[in-house]
Amino acid sequence: MNVPALHAKALRRRFSHPGGDVEVLRGLELRVEAGELVTVSGRSGSGKSALLALLGGFDSPDSGCVLLDGESIAGAPPWHTCAVLPQALGLALELTVGENVALPLRLRAGEGRPGPAAIRSRVSELLDGLGVGTLADRYPHELSFGQQQRVALARAVSGRPKILLTDEPTAHLDAGSVPAVLGLLRRCAEEGTAVVVATHDEEVHRIADRRVRMADGLLAGI
Ligand SMILES: Nc1ncnc2c1ncn2[C@@H]1O[C@H](COP(=O)(O)OP(=O)(O)OP(=O)(O)O)[C@@H](O)[C@H]1O
Ligand SMILES: [Mg+2]
Repeated sequence: MNVPALHAKALRRRFSHPGGDVEVLRGLELRVEAGELVTVSGRSGSGKSALLALLGGFDSPDSGCVLLDGESIAGAPPWHTCAVLPQALGLALELTVGENVALPLRLRAGEGRPGPAAIRSRVSELLDGLGVGTLADRYPHELSFGQQQRVALARAVSGRPKILLTDEPTAHLDAGSVPAVLGLLRRCAEEGTAVVVATHDEEVHRIADRRVRMADGLLAGI
């Protein structure tokens, strides 16, 4: 049988609150193939970000598991395997924009590691494509949140990860910046990355190969 790039099996996750426990994921199943772009919708608080944290290995399920290419993950995998763009972005504040985007490439060990010229060219191509090419030498705190969001996307995709998980990638963008972001997400999928996007944005859902909706701790097709 075909092994998906990403396979979430029977994920359960419960959070404790003073008012009582909330079971956010209740046996959730998700399979995403290499080259497939899947969008996840669902009301605020339905568990989209909680799901991405589990898929990216930043959180552990109470039961169930996440398989990447059929292998179980223990903790967060390296960026060239699974890149995550969280809602809070997570840029390294002490590095410039260009250094942030180059980071996954510089951290890559062994054969797949590009040389300095290839890294520079990949960083410029991504930043220019997202309309933030002139900001490469600035630090994240010198950027608007929408600019930071595009830089964080450039960093997430720079190492051509096998899996890309992005949380509300258009939430802080003006309408003019959205097409470049959507184009980049589509291109990643076309280059073979399995892409999962949590979003409230109808424009993002339109570029999906498949849409799913989070409801009652499970995913339903749309
Ligand atoms: N670390 C945590 N500790 C306790 N509760 C949490 C934690 N993370 C998430 N939750 C709870 O899990 C539920 C799902 O939260 P989550 O952030 O996944 O929602 P979401 O679908 O991403 O919402 P939004 O669309 O607003 O981003 C919420 O009820 C939230 O309070
Ligand atoms: Mg969220």
